[in-house]
Amino acid sequence: MKLPQTVNILLLGGGGREHAFAWKIAQSPRLEKLFIAPGNAGTKACGMNVDLDPSNFPAIKQFVLNNYINLVVVGPEQPLVDGVKDYFLSDPEIRNIPVVGPAQEAARLEGSKEYAKAFMARHGVPTAAYFTVTASNVEEGCEFLASKVKAPYVLKADGLAAGKGVLIIDDLAEAQNELREMLSGKFGAASKKVVIEEFLSGIEVSVFVATDGKSYKILPEAKDYKRIGEGDTGLNTGGMGAVSPVPFATPEFMEKVRTRIVEPTVRGIRQEGLDYTGFIFIGLMNCGGEPMVIEYNVRMGDPETEVVLPRITSDMIDLLEGIAHGTLGEKTLEVTPQTAATVVCVSGGYPGDYPKGKPISGLPAGGSVLGNSIVFHAGTALKEGRVVTSGGRVLAVTSLGSSIPAATERSYDAIAKIDYEGLYCRRDIGRDLL
Ligand code: AMP
Ligand code: GLY
Repeated sequence: MKLPQTVNILLLGGGGREHAFAWKIAQSPRLEKLFIAPGNAGTKACGMNVDLDPSNFPAIKQFVLNNYINLVVVGPEQPLVDGVKDYFLSDPEIRNIPVVGPAQEAARLEGSKEYAKAFMARHGVPTAAYFTVTASNVEEGCEFLASKVKAPYVLKADGLAAGKGVLIIDDLAEAQNELREMLSGKFGAASKKVVIEEFLSGIEVSVFVATDGKSYKILPEAKDYKRIGEGDTGLNTGGMGAVSPVPFATPEFMEKVRTRIVEPTVRGIRQEGLDYTGFIFIGLMNCGGEPMVIEYNVRMGDPETEVVLPRITSDMIDLLEGIAHGTLGEKTLEVTPQTAATVVCVSGGYPGDYPKGKPISGLPAGGSVLGNSIVFHAGTALKEGRVVTSGGRVLAVTSLGSSIPAATERSYDAIAKIDYEGLYCRRDIGRDLL
């Protein structure tokens, strides 16, 4: 099966990741029309924004039928965890319109930490030792913390907790106390079950895999910068920047990732009959040269996508077609050896409270190119014809270059032309890798 030669695509989501997808899809000669739901002020340059809620499945169905959509691409995890793909498959009117992303059961690889750990255990994927705790075995959980693992103690809410469900605690009594608090609803339903994990020390790298459920392609890897402050200090954020490639992810290391992690993961998906046609984001720790999985996500990363897709030089619709129609093995993925770096500009106060609606000046008119950079919008909106801030992460400014400093310098030069009240970015993206 194939897509028609030219296609209409509906892309769900509205952050920097989706702007990067829209930008890359819009470059394909195979694109007829691209719709982004809901999109942001930047995605308008790549297609048409539509005011649809990605979790309103009946409205998505109507839109898909009315606009002759050939392919649906899902950016964020929530619609996948909520079963958007199953919704399509169960309805004869839209069953044959492929959705890029896993079905609900497979999306539990991100939606439930315990499910993911048990999957890794079944398929021999290297990961930290763990123990699952619910209200019925709290004392065993406290005992596990006291005798089976050493500080620092890692506690994870089982369910989706908007990136806030992981606690790393040095003191045993405090960890035991937090465990009880999580179980009694600190993160709502997400922490009714808690996974305790052995602490892994090392440096993290994000690996991205496209799969049609049978074969796979490893996309460029990336490193993201999660803390708000320079030198990786302060509160956790959604991501303050990213670079690709990652110098410590050598060919030798990536071969270990492929054979020990990617292959057993894709084989496990196939053996268990999971419906997975989409992207797998594997969060890894490089523990002294040995890759260990920290987590699976069932989507691309943000801001990693803003460096991964600009390095791909082959056609995006061909890749999406391979994923959606089980023909990925026939496709070629081409990647530039250049370095891509993205620097995220956030609202003042983020990741705490921040204002919205601040006018942004200096943006490229009607496109995304500014100097030698691409400006991806993350949290922006249009208000009375002006682009204003509308989220914590506002822009992701990506550049390619011959080295990490060459790429980041271009992004900082572009950011110097942009202004809004409270603009903040980290000045040290990629510096730890030099
Ligand atoms: P997660 O939501 O699972 O990605 O966890 C959030 C962050 O916590 C990760 O990106 C790591 O920095 C850290 N983390 C999670 N699990 C572990 C672990 N077992 N050992 C050390 N750090 C961890
Ligand atoms: N950058 C991490 C994430 O997308 O979850």
